[in-house]
Amino acid sequence: MKGFEGKIIYITGGSSGIGLEMARIFAGRGAHLVLLARNRQKLEGAVRSVEESRLSQGQKIASLSVDVADPADVEEKMAAAVKEYGPPDILVCSAGINKHADHFENITYGMFDEVMKTNVYGPRTVIHTLLPAMKPRKGHVVILSSAAGLFGMFGYTAYGTSKAALLGLADSLRYELRPLGMKVTVVCPPEVDTPMNLDEAKTLPKEGRAMKDMAGMLTPEYAARVIVRAIAKEQYFFIPGPLTRFIYLMHRLTNGMGTRITSDAVVWLTRRKMGY
Ligand SMILES: NC(=O)c1ccc[n+]([C@@H]2O[C@H](COP(=O)([O-])OP(=O)(O)OC[C@H]3O[C@@H](n4cnc5c(N)ncnc54)[C@H](OP(=O)(O)O)[C@@H]3O)[C@@H](O)[C@H]2O)c1
Repeated sequence: MKGFEGKIIYITGGSSGIGLEMARIFAGRGAHLVLLARNRQKLEGAVRSVEESRLSQGQKIASLSVDVADPADVEEKMAAAVKEYGPPDILVCSAGINKHADHFENITYGMFDEVMKTNVYGPRTVIHTLLPAMKPRKGHVVILSSAAGLFGMFGYTAYGTSKAALLGLADSLRYELRPLGMKVTVVCPPEVDTPMNLDEAKTLPKEGRAMKDMAGMLTPEYAARVIVRAIAKEQYFFIPGPLTRFIYLMHRLTNGMGTRITSDAVVWLTRRKMGY
């Protein structure tokens, strides 16, 4: 079991939701943290709240404003962070957006591109930039995918595609990093009660909402706690929440048939209620 005391942990998306809750837990276990996101005000608030959870005053809790969708910004800021705080022992890629959850025909190229640039190219560029500095420390890369990367979802052609892509990235990366003594963890949570859902709710079709309700919702505190435990155990693949783990098991055992039949029924029933 990995300990976190004295470890340097970078968290993209560390100013909100799952990333922020994970930061609080890591701080409580003695880690130094660098929180990365765009909005400086939110970052400053996050630093103050994470400082309250730290074990000792000697722990550094820092933040840096960066847009993970902008490769030049990532390269500049990561170089500055490594110089100032040291390379990460653990890099958590939690920054992500769930905008444009809508019928595929309503999602323009630009909208799709925005989701891909943040959710796929974002982690890709952050990992690629920090990898040389992480190698000598035999670092650990953690990628936040989603249950939406494991199963299709009504209204998730952009977000689901981005999260499925991260599973491909993690799987291939794991083979390359393992011989170097480095670790990869990929996490697939179901819905977690964070600000991300407010964005999604603006456009998510009712059929998508009904499908998501099948897997239930986790609190960010619970999600963060079990994800940190999976990282400590150096688990490669982790699904938070027993219900989603069960649905995924059924999905695999029935080669997708179980989830397709159930989800088709939920979509049909929802559309009937809507008068279609
Ligand atoms: N919540 C869920 O239901 C759920 C379920 C499964 C998986 N996930 C995944 O878990 C991760 C965390 O989600 P969450 O629910 O914690 O979301 P959240 O509360 O909305 O937090 C998202 C974080 O990402 C940052 N961010 C967004 N775009 C960014 C960019 N271009 N550059 C840098 N930082 C950026 C945000 O800060 P700024 O806006 O200030 O940049 C914020 O700190 C995401 O990857 C998400 O896809 C979430």
